[in-house]
Amino acid sequence: MAQALVSAKARKLSGDIAVPGDKSVSHRALMLGAVSVGETRISGLLEAEDVLNTATAMAALGAGVNRDESGLWRVDGCGVGALAEPDRVLDMGNSGTGARLLIGLLATHPFTSFLTGDASLCGRPMRRVMDPLEGFGAAFHARSRGRLPAAVVGAVDPVPLTYRTPVASAQVKSAVLLAGLNTPGRTTVIEAQPTRDHTELMLRHFGAEVSVEDDPAEGRIVSVLGQPELTARAVEVPGDISSAAFVIVAALLVPGSAVTIRGVGLNPLRTGLLAALAEMGAAVAIENERQAAGEPVGDITVEAGPLRGADIPAEWAPSMIDEYPILAMAVACAEGTTRLNGLAELRVKESDRLQAVADGLRACGVGLEVDGDTLIIHGTGRPPAGGARVAVNLDHRIAMAFLVLGMVTDEPIAVDDAGPIATSFPGFTDLMNGLGASIKEQGETT
Ligand code: S3P
Repeated sequence: MAQALVSAKARKLSGDIAVPGDKSVSHRALMLGAVSVGETRISGLLEAEDVLNTATAMAALGAGVNRDESGLWRVDGCGVGALAEPDRVLDMGNSGTGARLLIGLLATHPFTSFLTGDASLCGRPMRRVMDPLEGFGAAFHARSRGRLPAAVVGAVDPVPLTYRTPVASAQVKSAVLLAGLNTPGRTTVIEAQPTRDHTELMLRHFGAEVSVEDDPAEGRIVSVLGQPELTARAVEVPGDISSAAFVIVAALLVPGSAVTIRGVGLNPLRTGLLAALAEMGAAVAIENERQAAGEPVGDITVEAGPLRGADIPAEWAPSMIDEYPILAMAVACAEGTTRLNGLAELRVKESDRLQAVADGLRACGVGLEVDGDTLIIHGTGRPPAGGARVAVNLDHRIAMAFLVLGMVTDEPIAVDDAGPIATSFPGFTDLMNGLGASIKEQGETT
């Protein structure tokens, strides 16, 4: 049975913490480790369901994947193009990233593999990766509209591709680049709007030749030279800014709070939330900036304070695509009207997040409108009434966002299923309660 959680008014949040490892970087470290030669050592890997499913899949494809007692993960790689046909269905659970990136990798391996996932993942669009991957010579047998479960029939003699992504999606870009790895020649992706570049950075880290060019007319042109010799590398996974986001907004909203989060990944293509919060008048400071495995990392300190409404441009969406649910909670407490533009992609995430955010906030007493792919929220400068029970629909970020809002509303907010939080942020409830939140299982009284 699903476990419901209730979040009631928090006392001030304070502490000096770290958040679990970055999900995007963790998936990629396991996949690139599996196609490198030698032993890749990964520290700080996100040990959450999504990533553990990728680890299991890479082991089923022939890589040695082991965790030692200290928490270090060791991936004994097969080399580029040398994954083996799996003897079972690869279950990617809730993870669009795991599924789409793996489909890319498998598209240029000469065998057939079968992928599935949970009810949320099996409802999500996969044609967006299958279309370009057919250009390499791969074939797919999927349910209607390209949905999982699906069979990936890998190309025997893959041919390289130049592909313009029709949607701003790092998953689509990455699927094509990963297919290009085992393809002779140069594979190129052109994206009108730059999306997170963890695949490019990590491919370089493992020794691939990747070029990136910003063209004023075309956008960002990324290409990888196929069939490189990738060499095992150490990967230090930074803290996930998309998990830190929940702590950041909680600390901004709960009066008197001050929280420091150490070692957070600050890839500029992921930090749109910080820019949006700055626009709204938030006090967020970054210190101790450094590099880890080619990625910028730093410590974030947040202090509570009033927020004002803002107009957040559609061009920022790729750099904060996973942060809209939690940003919307901050916006609901801000003074004045906020417009969040360019949210079409939210409709095809783990759930329809635009609908889920709008329904949940309305149930909490927030005034808002959805106009096409723009969410317009009318804040009063005070937290809304709360008192709602929010349907999570297998979406971790919807659960966590509304639990944060419940920290400041007059009436507690309940979420009907805490289970999905484990897909990305194990320990969320304990970490928040340790800072001063009051999140309990429904039915608990003390
Ligand atoms: C991700 C890309 C984004 C993001 C997802 C992780 C990645 O998806 O929402 O959580 O690691 O490449 P899209 O590429 O579909 O926007």
